[in-house]
Amino acid sequence: MVNVLSRLLLFLISLHCFVACLATNTKNITTDQSSLLAFKSLITSDPYDMLSNNWSTSSHVCTWVGVTCDERHNRVHSLNLHNMSLRGIVSPNLGNLSFLVILNLSSNSFNGQFSKEIYWLHRLKVISIAYNEFVGGIPEALGDLSQLQILYLGANNFSGFLPQSIGNLRQLKRFDISRNMLSGPIPQTISNMSSLEYLALQLNYFSGNGCGYGHLGDKQLSGEILLFNNMTSLRVVYFEANNLNGRLPNEFFNQLPQLEDFTLRNNQFEGSIPRSIGNCTSLIYINLASNFLTESYSLNILK
Ligand SMILES: *[C@@H]1O[C@H](CO)[C@@H](O)[C@H](O)[C@H]1NC(C)=O
Ligand SMILES: *[C@@H]1O[C@H](CO)[C@@H](O)[C@H](O)[C@H]1NC(C)=O
Ligand SMILES: *[C@@H]1O[C@H](CO)[C@@H](O)[C@H](O)[C@H]1NC(C)=O
Ligand SMILES: *[C@@H]1O[C@H](CO)[C@@H](O)[C@H](O)[C@H]1NC(C)=O
Ligand SMILES: *[C@@H]1O[C@H](CO)[C@@H](O)[C@H](O)[C@H]1NC(C)=O
Ligand SMILES: *[C@@H]1O[C@H](CO)[C@@H](O)[C@H](O)[C@H]1NC(C)=O
Ligand SMILES: *[C@@H]1O[C@H](CO)[C@@H](O)[C@H](O)[C@H]1NC(C)=O
Ligand SMILES: *[C@@H]1O[C@H](CO)[C@@H](O)[C@H](O)[C@H]1NC(C)=O
Ligand SMILES: *[C@@H]1O[C@H](CO)[C@@H](O)[C@H](O)[C@H]1NC(C)=O
Repeated sequence: MVNVLSRLLLFLISLHCFVACLATNTKNITTDQSSLLAFKSLITSDPYDMLSNNWSTSSHVCTWVGVTCDERHNRVHSLNLHNMSLRGIVSPNLGNLSFLVILNLSSNSFNGQFSKEIYWLHRLKVISIAYNEFVGGIPEALGDLSQLQILYLGANNFSGFLPQSIGNLRQLKRFDISRNMLSGPIPQTISNMSSLEYLALQLNYFSGNGCGYGHLGDKQLSGEILLFNNMTSLRVVYFEANNLNGRLPNEFFNQLPQLEDFTLRNNQFEGSIPRSIGNCTSLIYINLASNFLTESYSLNILK
């Protein structure tokens, strides 16, 4: 009897949770509309009236400028507000666009922190917020966006370290975080990004032992030599204008058969150029100038 009662109780509790959880988790196109209106409400400058009249409840959200919906789910699929001279902070309510696949806010004047709620949008394949005025760090939660293929964060004021979790982005093909204020080592986990084709880290303050043996002795740093193991899709690598130092490991170029464009210019690398460079049979352009390398050259291999 007690058993039956407790089972019933358990059933009622789980039913309650089912209904309650469903109510809080259920989002629909109406949620998307209110999320976008919340986003609009934090835009402080829209000089070309891109959104001011267009984003209104008198028309369907899927007809709003920059918004496209996915017919199957009837939800917002992409938000593209590229180059509209918009200024303001990004509303955390964007995190309610749970079917968002493409977010393109590049070339505006968005500022403040990039809402952490956006890292909940697990369907995202493209994030481009380059050329804005975002500040703050890149959170570990970035690594949860396992579908990401394109991530452009360049030309903002992001600072702090690149999180280890970046290595979880195994679908990522293009990663650009150039022209920011990032510092610390380039995480070794980056070599787990096995789909990566384009890696742009230039014009930051990446430093120390990210690559090579550094100055602190081999022992301490030998576990952290950056090696692009398994990154057989990598075509373009820009490391220029950072504070990277040390020697390039002999094996550095062993497994980069697609490498076409490689720029280390303006760092503090020393030693000689590994002979494994001979394995990069696709190389078109290499620039190692302004380092402390024994052979310092910039080469344009004409094919
Ligand atoms: C969305 O869900 C809310 C309740 O959560 C409901 O009131 C509204 O009518 C729904 N909108 C559509 C378009 O289904
Ligand atoms: C909003 O802009 C889109 C795209 O330019 C246009 O098709 C639509 O008619 C506009 N809607 C309103 C209400 O102005
Ligand atoms: C962002 O939108 C612009 C304009 O539509 C487009 O040219 C650019 O390629 C888009 N960026 C990405 C990463 O898709
Ligand atoms: C951005 O928009 C301005 C006008 O609004 C235009 O003059 C400029 O060419 C655009 N730039 C790009 C890269 O689309
Ligand atoms: C949307 O997100 C905000 C902030 O993350 C939250 O407070 C709000 O309750 C959400 N709204 C809906 C309708 O889900
Ligand atoms: C970054 O911050 C510096 C000063 O803190 C400022 O001068 C610069 O304009 C900012 N750059 C961007 C792209 O916001
Ligand atoms: C790559 O991922 C695997 C599996 O998650 C993990 O065991 C390994 O340590 C990672 N490699 C690096 C260099 O982070
Ligand atoms: C290369 O990748 C494969 C699968 O993607 C993995 O099993 C292997 O451990 C990786 N090797 C290295 C050296 O990271
Ligand atoms: C090319 O890579 C292989 C391993 O993948 C290595 O054994 C060989 O020494 C490399 N060639 C050169 C010229 O370094």
